[in-house]
Amino acid sequence: KYGHFTFDPGFLATGSCESAITFIDGANGVLLHRGYPIDELATKADYLEVCYLLLHGNAPSESEYKEFVDTINRHTMVHEGIEFFFRGFRRDAHPMAMLCGTVGALSSFYHRDLDITDPAQRVRCATRLVAKLPTIAAMCYKYSIGQKFVCPQNHLSYSENFLNMMFSVPAEECKIEPAVVRAMDKIFTLHADHEQNASTSTVRLAGSSGANPYACIAAGIASLWGPAHGGANEACLTMLEEIGSVDRIDEYVAKAKDKNDPFRLMGFGHRVYKNFDPRAKVMRETCHEVLDALGINDPLLDIAMRLEKIALEDEYFISKKLYPNVDFYSGIILKAIGIPTNMFTVIFALSRTIGWISHWHEMLSQPGAKIGRPRQLYTGELPRSFTPINKD
Ligand code: SDX
Repeated sequence: KYGHFTFDPGFLATGSCESAITFIDGANGVLLHRGYPIDELATKADYLEVCYLLLHGNAPSESEYKEFVDTINRHTMVHEGIEFFFRGFRRDAHPMAMLCGTVGALSSFYHRDLDITDPAQRVRCATRLVAKLPTIAAMCYKYSIGQKFVCPQNHLSYSENFLNMMFSVPAEECKIEPAVVRAMDKIFTLHADHEQNASTSTVRLAGSSGANPYACIAAGIASLWGPAHGGANEACLTMLEEIGSVDRIDEYVAKAKDKNDPFRLMGFGHRVYKNFDPRAKVMRETCHEVLDALGINDPLLDIAMRLEKIALEDEYFISKKLYPNVDFYSGIILKAIGIPTNMFTVIFALSRTIGWISHWHEMLSQPGAKIGRPRQLYTGELPRSFTPINKD
């Protein structure tokens, strides 16, 4: 036992790989990053402190933090050629398609620091990606709405800089509420890493072949896009809008319980958590903070709160251990901030880049790291001989 945490050695020994970055106890709703509980990080640290922690293993000292922020700021711009790269996209392309393509293309712009056996070069790739993802994410949004790209302003904090690149226009100053900046920073932190989820496992598998780090992160973005994974926040808001009013909730809860109906309650359930997702608790509080600060009375929040109450008291959901997950509230906050639903997963990908690249860095630093080569259970035909057909 470590304090009130109980580490089950058997549990620790059953993983598919070794990692010191994140610990999840799904039965008890525990999430630690390098030993720190997620609720403490989300309320006491900012996102760049969490980035430093995930990448380097310990929280930064004041001087380390300042140097890290300065390094990030020196890499927030993107190559001019990236702007032309965007011009090839249709305006109605999904921002995740543009993000996936553009991040993958970074491997054609940056040829430095690609000796992945050198830890210092791996760290330089990591900081370059953390610095550029907000700029590229905001470019995806601006391109989709036909507005000019906005350059990063390095006197702004990381989260404020992102929101400025999203919402400012040449015609006028963009004023962003401090509560909104704090909420954005918390959302980044709450999505930063989550052990061996589908997209992180994708990045590790791609990285295990020695592939270019930018291409590995593009692979992670592609995997995150799925509605069962990172696309759930966008799908959750779409579901709440489709439900439309509290008196239609029972109809959708019944659908979710019907084994013959493929409908799932978006934002509920998790492969690992069989208890409340600790991130959802912080996200729920942040949701109320932002809506109160902005004076927004969003009927979708009423539907979400009612749906949460019903699900937490419903025999079926209790028996299946289905609780709200991190995606259940994030969509409502992002909508309140003025971010369109098709950008929700882009923000998840921006947040998760540090988790992906920290796992990539950790895996390559492990002695004897080998290419990932999962095996299978063969269920095909028994051996048989081939009869050629007459092709004349
Ligand atoms: C993320 O891995 C990670 O860490 C991911 C993530 C991260 O930070 O990287 O946490 C982010 O992806 C969170 C999850 C976001 N996805 C959603 O909110 C989409 C809706 N949720 C589901 O699709 C589902 O809950 C999964 C995919 C997340 C998990 O599905 P599983 O593996 O089937 O979950 P389970 O085994 O615990 O399900 C138990 C039962 C099953 O029924 P039975 O086979 O026992 O009859 O509950 C059912 C499931 O069919 N069930 C649901 C449900 N989720 C599971 N029924 C209705 N609504 C749901 N949301």
